Amino acid sequence: MDHLKQSCYELSLPVTEKSNPISRDIDRAHSKQMVQILKRCDAEIFEKERNHDPFYQRLYSLPVIQTMVDVAKRVEIILRDPEESLIVLSGCGTSGRIAFLLVTSFNEMLNAQRQKQICSYIIAGGDRALLTSQEAPEDDPGLGARTLEKVCAGKKHVLFIGISCGMSAPFVAGQLDFCLNHLDIFTPVLLGFNPVHMARSELMQDCSFHFKDVAERMAAEQRHKKAYVLNPVLGAEAISGSSRMKGGSATKIILETVLLAGHEAAFRDKMMTPEYMSAWISASEMVYDTTYSRSDEIAALIHKAGESLQMKAHVYYLGWKTLGIIGMTDASECIPTYGADFGDIRGFINNGFSEMKNKEGDLSYLGPEFIIGHKDFVDTILQSLSQNDMILFLFTVNDDLNEVTVLANQLRQRTSNLHAIAHDLEKFTIPETVCHMFETVLNITWPFSSAKDNSVVMRQHWELSTKLCLNAISTGAHVLKGKVYMNYMIDLRVTNSKLYRRAINILQRFTGCSKTECESALLRAVYSTDDLTEDMTRADVHTHTDAANTRERVVPTALVMIQSGCTHAEAQRHLDCHAVIRDAVSACLNSSKTRALWTEHTIK
Ligand code: F6P
Repeated sequence: MDHLKQSCYELSLPVTEKSNPISRDIDRAHSKQMVQILKRCDAEIFEKERNHDPFYQRLYSLPVIQTMVDVAKRVEIILRDPEESLIVLSGCGTSGRIAFLLVTSFNEMLNAQRQKQICSYIIAGGDRALLTSQEAPEDDPGLGARTLEKVCAGKKHVLFIGISCGMSAPFVAGQLDFCLNHLDIFTPVLLGFNPVHMARSELMQDCSFHFKDVAERMAAEQRHKKAYVLNPVLGAEAISGSSRMKGGSATKIILETVLLAGHEAAFRDKMMTPEYMSAWISASEMVYDTTYSRSDEIAALIHKAGESLQMKAHVYYLGWKTLGIIGMTDASECIPTYGADFGDIRGFINNGFSEMKNKEGDLSYLGPEFIIGHKDFVDTILQSLSQNDMILFLFTVNDDLNEVTVLANQLRQRTSNLHAIAHDLEKFTIPETVCHMFETVLNITWPFSSAKDNSVVMRQHWELSTKLCLNAISTGAHVLKGKVYMNYMIDLRVTNSKLYRRAINILQRFTGCSKTECESALLRAVYSTDDLTEDMTRADVHTHTDAANTRERVVPTALVMIQSGCTHAEAQRHLDCHAVIRDAVSACLNSSKTRALWTEHTIK
């Protein structure tokens, strides 16, 4: 594919789907280089606006900060008059998991201060999506609207925050549309990371409008302060389209700021000014700086996790309190992103579901993916643990260090492959005896401040820091396992319409073939055939993604078929010859390049 074609192709993609030039060679980087690449990509979250471009507002841009002030004022109003009011945060995948984390933490804070808990979360697919990837419900705008209506029944004032990093999830679009049709009750907010004109413009299931229509209506209502669009641009993700990374982090930073600022205004009469908002964001930037100042330790953990995955062993995160949730969130997203098995990277939390405090309660009856307590880990996994499995403890000085010690001692009897991310404070450090139990400890000591709400803010900073580290570890480990080609997730699971389009985009990117040719190859891979029947070609995207759910290596198979012009069976054989997907893809792309050059040469 020539350069011009390639850059036109890139231009047509929204920012959140583009390939980031910083990480283009991440697949060839060693772990220390990878950390530097991720550090530069994450730095873009906090980058200042370039040339006052109105389409590319950044997190610190005044209009973005002003919208945050406006939304925080809505939070304040609801907190001052909580009867018959509600704040709802909703999203799909990581966006829904972050919504859950923020809502539970905020409600807990309100409860501790004897205030009414007025926050609620919605995640597409329900609570099971907190722990496992459930991509199909993301495609259903009607389901989104119905779920919202149910959660808000009887309420007179609702601040609804719909999160879709790529401004693409039909589930969220359905909810925003519902709010726009009931502006007497709802104040809708769209949080995403593309300019409005880049919102998804593909029609949605059983729907006459698309996401972009909704985003434009939201922007129009913003002029009357009836709706708000919060959409700073963060630059492309380090792994193209992987919005769990920068998108997830920025979602956390923005919404925590807005919620806490509203709370400060309601209960401490603090004035909400743009400077005040910027200061909150700067505090998160400090977290970013502090975390990446420990690049060597992060690289060591990437290396260890990569070794485990390469040996087909496992990585287990054992976290305490909300760090347990951060661990489970990171682990669950590896399945759709890298085609990983649920057992490859798994998260556990102390006290299991009673610590989660999710709406639907204990879900362990749903099967092994829903076994999440430390005790469950000991009961079900410890026996089969091998030295190749990496265990990563996630805790802070405020957690029960005795519990940490007891569990670490128990595990040390079976393996020494035990590591930790541990946060403490200048005045309250974690005893060395605890740190010495681990082979690698990423121990970050944070400045201590005695301000009243410091424990809430500190916890948020520890969560963000842990999120950055775990995103780096799981991304780096999958890169080392060969699940990334350049900076593309070439083995993604094609389980909803967005991922289906992304798969076609990836095929176009590498083959230079038309959309039709790429889609046809994708379908042949999905249905394991060389001859697509009319039923297959006529079926809708949801039928295709349902079928793809049970298939492995769908995109690599399609890529090999296009590049080599071979049959489905031959493509499978080619992939079987390579233990590592990246090697298979690279061999295929290189051999066809050589063939093309050779043909060109002989013709001349
Ligand atoms: O479809 C799966 C997924 O891509 C997840 O990886 C992601 O967290 C989720 O969709 C939500 O994406 P968005 O926030 O862009 O709607």
